[in-house]
Amino acid sequence: MGRNGSKSEQSSTLVDNFHRPVDYVRIAVTSLCNLRCSYCMREEHEEKSDEESILKKQEISAIIEVLAGLGVTKIRFTGGEPLLRRDIVELVRQAKTQTGIKTVSLTTNGVLLDRFLPALIDAGLDALNFSIDTLDGNRYRTITRREEFCRVRKNLDLLLTTDALAVKLNVVLMRDVNSDELHQFVDFTKHHNVKVRFIELQPFDDNQIWRTGKFFSADNIRALLNRSYPDLHPVRGNATEYFSYTQPNHKGSIAIIPAFTRNFCTGCNKIRITSNGKIISCLYEKDGVNLLPILRGNGSHHALVDLFRQAVSQKPRDGRHTLTNSVRTSMSEIGG
Ligand code: GTP
Ligand code: 5AD
Ligand code: SF4
Repeated sequence: MGRNGSKSEQSSTLVDNFHRPVDYVRIAVTSLCNLRCSYCMREEHEEKSDEESILKKQEISAIIEVLAGLGVTKIRFTGGEPLLRRDIVELVRQAKTQTGIKTVSLTTNGVLLDRFLPALIDAGLDALNFSIDTLDGNRYRTITRREEFCRVRKNLDLLLTTDALAVKLNVVLMRDVNSDELHQFVDFTKHHNVKVRFIELQPFDDNQIWRTGKFFSADNIRALLNRSYPDLHPVRGNATEYFSYTQPNHKGSIAIIPAFTRNFCTGCNKIRITSNGKIISCLYEKDGVNLLPILRGNGSHHALVDLFRQAVSQKPRDGRHTLTNSVRTSMSEIGG
């Protein structure tokens, strides 16, 4: 693989057919997970054990090098659970060495964070999104089907002792499961400089929990927030954090990700790479563009650039309209 590609590639960027620049890439580094969140996967979720097809560290680094040359500025490592990759620290460090990549971030369930946090900070990680849907141990067991609450809760406290990282909490809100905890999470922002994001359930799961009346819409969340916190002040969020707020005298802030009901495709600036090397141009796309044959077949830097351009040109104007129930069973396949 050539170093950084030609000058002309360096100056060219990824823009889709609807003039949306793509500068954010989410890379799923594994599809394995140490939790079994009921909205994400079944207890007996079959972990893809085809080790051979999983992207290797050098391959991920080569991909990031190509992406940096194409104007990508933000990389997020996801999974499954990205901290299950032993080389995650090295992946972060290598991503940070790429000129042009301004932000390297990670989305984790936090189970293994105590093991990695200092090294991740040392490697230059900029931001961390921490998934925690409840602050109650019994509920945590019910939602995740694992006994990890104490460790996760301690790891959240550990995370909050550092100001080296921008921290967000991801809370998937579900009716009659944890929707009554909205207030506890808002209270959490009083003393902690974190952004709590309430996320709508999305229709990807093996046991179709979203068909069981547990869906709690962004409109419901907004109504509940506005009723309970009349001082809530709307602020500008990013594309996914469609509704964002600050609350007077709170150190942190609050956002809602209307993952399913609201169509934020117009502002979409991202593509995804699966742990087995497929470029997914849209959350709702089923088949991606496979990087492996070129990556493993002595393919040139140019050939990889072409694959990214091909994938980006496939990006639909509005992915939600292409959604079918069979699109995929778990978010863990595409890294959320
Ligand atoms: P930031 O860079 O901090 O804004 O993170 P993020 O929201 O891009 O990433 P994260 O991995 O924390 O994802 C949070 C939630 O947003 C997950 O439930 C994702 O499925 C959802 N999400 C992220 N990107 C998209 C998207 O393009 N479309 C939809 N519908 N949901 C998305
Ligand atoms: N709907 C909404 N969010 C989901 N996540 C995983 N599966 C779903 C789903 N079906 C969230 C996780 C994590 C983020 C990466 O995606 O809770 O915070
Ligand atoms: Fe694992 Fe995330 Fe799925 Fe929960 S939502 S089972 S933490 S991949």
